[in-house]
Amino acid sequence: MSIRTNYEKWYEGEDYYWGLEPGRFLEELIKLCPPSEGKKVLDIGCGEGKDAVYMAQQGYDVTAFDLTENGIRKTISLAKDRGVNIRAYVDDINTFSLDEPFDIIYSTGTVQYLFDENKNRFFEKISKITRPDGVVLINVFVEKPFLELPPDWDKEEKMWRSGELFTYFADWKVERIDEVIFEDMSGGIPHYHCMDTIVCRKMQQDADDMTSR
Ligand SMILES: C[S@@+](CC[C@H](N)C(=O)[O-])C[C@H]1O[C@@H](n2cnc3c(N)ncnc32)[C@H](O)[C@@H]1O
Repeated sequence: MSIRTNYEKWYEGEDYYWGLEPGRFLEELIKLCPPSEGKKVLDIGCGEGKDAVYMAQQGYDVTAFDLTENGIRKTISLAKDRGVNIRAYVDDINTFSLDEPFDIIYSTGTVQYLFDENKNRFFEKISKITRPDGVVLINVFVEKPFLELPPDWDKEEKMWRSGELFTYFADWKVERIDEVIFEDMSGGIPHYHCMDTIVCRKMQQDADDMTSR
């Protein structure tokens, strides 16, 4: 197995590195796009699956991938424990390929693993596979000259410029945009992150590529 992210070893044990509490943003997504028969969710960089499995428990049809084999093993096991089916597999945010449409696409703490040369293609893909009226939530760590690089930063992670994420969604309906600085204890040493988040909806006039589906 080629190790490209520290998470592969952090996810090895039976404990859940991120805990099992679903992310706070999920309730916001559920309100914006409530579950109903056949509503599909994609979690990009699902970690050990706590959010993907929670969304499946809410009634969505969930697809999730992560670069780590240990993360996917634990995602599948958590889904089994909770009695839900999800499609979870190892894949890379830089090269993944999916053609079917989704109602909710989200990716938290993962987009900084996109190589520069793949950014445009990634966001074109996201636009193509989001259903009209579908919702996207993405967050990314951004660089601030007054903040040090976090102690557990991976060699393949790359800080984004403040506001850069928002430029990829200029034609979408923005539901929420924010930039927040927060303290984090991951890796055992207290440090700060700055994070940009966008929650946005794909409007009908931007959805021509999906109407034939
Ligand atoms: C900060 S964690 C976030 C995990 C999860 N989304 C959450 O919020 O709990 C970043 C995740 O990105 C995954 N990752 C790293 N490089 C990746 C890549 N190239 N493609 C897909 N996932 C990747 C890591 O394995 C890790 O699970």
